[in-house]
Amino acid sequence: MDEAARLLETGGLVAVPTETVYGLAADALNEKAVARIFEAKGRPADNPLIVHIGDLSELRNLCRDVPEAAYTLALHFWPGPLTLVLPRRGVVPDLVCAGMSTVAVRMPAHPALLELLRATGLVLAAPSANLSGSPSPTTAQHVLYDLDGRVDAVVDGGPCEWGVESTVLDLTVSPPCVLRPGGITAGQLSVALSVKGIAASSGKGEQADAPRAPGMKYRHYAPRAPLHLLEGSIDEALRQLETAPRGARVLCCDEEKPLFAAYHPESYGREDDPRDLMRGLFAALRRLDESAAPALYARLPNVRDERYDAIVNRVTKAVSGK
Ligand code: TXA
Ligand code: MG
Repeated sequence: MDEAARLLETGGLVAVPTETVYGLAADALNEKAVARIFEAKGRPADNPLIVHIGDLSELRNLCRDVPEAAYTLALHFWPGPLTLVLPRRGVVPDLVCAGMSTVAVRMPAHPALLELLRATGLVLAAPSANLSGSPSPTTAQHVLYDLDGRVDAVVDGGPCEWGVESTVLDLTVSPPCVLRPGGITAGQLSVALSVKGIAASSGKGEQADAPRAPGMKYRHYAPRAPLHLLEGSIDEALRQLETAPRGARVLCCDEEKPLFAAYHPESYGREDDPRDLMRGLFAALRRLDESAAPALYARLPNVRDERYDAIVNRVTKAVSGK
């Protein structure tokens, strides 16, 4: 931890555990350090970063016109998997915000990262610690697989508790708009703010006219083999698989695994437990990737309420074929 702190204080790149996924952290106010993040990940410069804070007072230092709603949400959900998009102040380097007038901020819940933030007094820009486009890392081993040799250090904090990235909420529009679904649902946000109609974005569901998280336009979370979505009933899915190449594999929930036994199924969790599915998704995609199957086929959970929005969103984004 001391070495990680020293590296961050001197402009280094350190992969850190968060409660969502591992992040690739650097001093957010040091433009040179932030540039190294984009370089290490191969990230397009028009995709802004989330700034992680260890103390609520930083919100005012980074953002202006902070509405009451931000403090209400911070009280309910921080530290935790919620990112707030707010008007930025000039201290935040352009590179962090991809030149936009807003900045995304969150207070992460992992004790090791909180300790680093508080020990250094820094605010840390950190995207997910994967190569741009590949599944987000939920263990230190995943980080090393993608970024060994490109980062100065990795802090191993064990497997991530949530397994998918934070909910991103735009507070510069009224009503606030979910730009990326995550562990905190639109319903929970509505209850906390006593506001009806916080737009829930699921699947491809960002509204066309809403300002979006620029990152959501890119293909994401994708294994190297072509990944197709298997929709419909089990019978329809099995029929689609008749034309699959030899050695093709299926990604599905525990409950459907026996039904796809002929296709080396890989499970990402229990269908009735969205937290279990979130925790398992990216690791399952990485295991499928390592198996070098010529094609992959993904099943979505059959249950659909807003607790599944993040899962539907990530699987849909990982899909390359039909
Ligand atoms: O859980 C998380 O959020 C993880 C951990 C490491 O904190 N971080 C993460 O970062 O997922 P990243 O860079 O992989 O995704 C950040 C998302 C992108 O879709 C980006 O476009 C969006 O947040 N974003 C960042 N700044 C924004 C802004 N000012 N306005 C709108 N969207 C923004
Ligand atoms: Mg990412």
